[in-house]
Amino acid sequence: MNGMRVVLGVCGGIAAYKAAALTSTLVQRGVELDVILTASAERFIAPLTFASLTARPVYGSLWDAPERIPHIRLVREAQAILIAPATANVIAKLAHGIAGDLLTTAVLAARIPIVIAPAMNSAMYEHPATVANLALLRERGYDIVEPERGFLAERESGPGRLASEERLIEALERALRRRNSLAGKRIAITAGPTREAFDPIRFVSNASTGAIGIALAREAALRGAEVVLMLGPTLLEPPAQVTTVRFTTARDLFDAAMRHAVGADWTIATAAVADYRPAETAASKLKKSEGDLLVRFERNPDVLAALGERKGGSKLVGFAAETDDHEANAREKLRNKHLDAIVLNDVRDERGFGLVQSTLTLLWGAGEKREIGTGTKPHLAARLLDALEEVLGCS
Ligand code: CTP
Repeated sequence: MNGMRVVLGVCGGIAAYKAAALTSTLVQRGVELDVILTASAERFIAPLTFASLTARPVYGSLWDAPERIPHIRLVREAQAILIAPATANVIAKLAHGIAGDLLTTAVLAARIPIVIAPAMNSAMYEHPATVANLALLRERGYDIVEPERGFLAERESGPGRLASEERLIEALERALRRRNSLAGKRIAITAGPTREAFDPIRFVSNASTGAIGIALAREAALRGAEVVLMLGPTLLEPPAQVTTVRFTTARDLFDAAMRHAVGADWTIATAAVADYRPAETAASKLKKSEGDLLVRFERNPDVLAALGERKGGSKLVGFAAETDDHEANAREKLRNKHLDAIVLNDVRDERGFGLVQSTLTLLWGAGEKREIGTGTKPHLAARLLDALEEVLGCS
């Protein structure tokens, strides 16, 4: 942490006093801390406390700072943001992009890892609005340090106490490690389904939403990689920090991959590519007739196998969506497509698709294996990149 630059946001709650002790510990560990207090935080604790501890200016209003756009400079110079304590109000604003003061504006302008440590009354913490807002932030890759149960300011007991200093520092250390771990790497990611049309309005596709590829792209960009995301037809939004190239068919993806993935340091192929396409696409909408409709399918190119043949020094990671004989099938793909690792995704009963939880296992080498675990896509994306950094090497 020594020499790292961090923005500490302090919101207006009784736990604001704990931010002073945290500031002192971080300063002792060599962190250069820029503290931003919200207007309500200043009711609980004086800016002078933080100015004395950090020997640096403390920021409050957007308007009374000596410079005109402090929020942009602060987040450009920092390697991570920690908000402790974060109130329900600020969490709601961050979840909805409302940027009415210096702290929320700085977070909206930030492209660095963000750690949020909520602290509030239990009823507020458990309110469906707060639960949904925190879920949204998690989905966007924010790290939420869950509060602890215990005695609260209202003389009630329940969840809502600010996490211990130890847990806060641990989360910040994790965020700082994430920040630079993939700096200088060019990473290509394929994601989402393909669509293969057999008339102007009908197509063959699959249940992929691209969620895991989008989460990996966001996480890799946060870790400093230069990311190209090749994304199929999905309603999910690609992250702002990556270059997104859209595709519809397997052949579109093939062309995009030849341009963007050949020569990349890593390619991670999460796309659910149709192995076959209708041999003919009717020029006008097919009309029904008495008999059955026969559609003949022809083979699509295997994008990942083609990248395997043009591999050079690139590292290739495939995904294997399997319903049976999971590991044996995945290992066969690992060998046949000349991959460095493959991620096994159990998709029985459409499990593993969309925004629900999935379970991933990383396979590599002759028999090496690591469980990535079960969780939401952003959570799994972070754990998978941790594992890939080790397995593929990150020098
Ligand atoms: N893949 C690809 N191009 C294809 C088919 C698959 O790039 N035409 C990639 C996927 O993105 C994934 C990996 O290959 O990373 C394995 O995909 P999967 O559909 O599980 O396997 P297939 O090779 O298509 O084999 P099968 O459908 O027979 O299981």
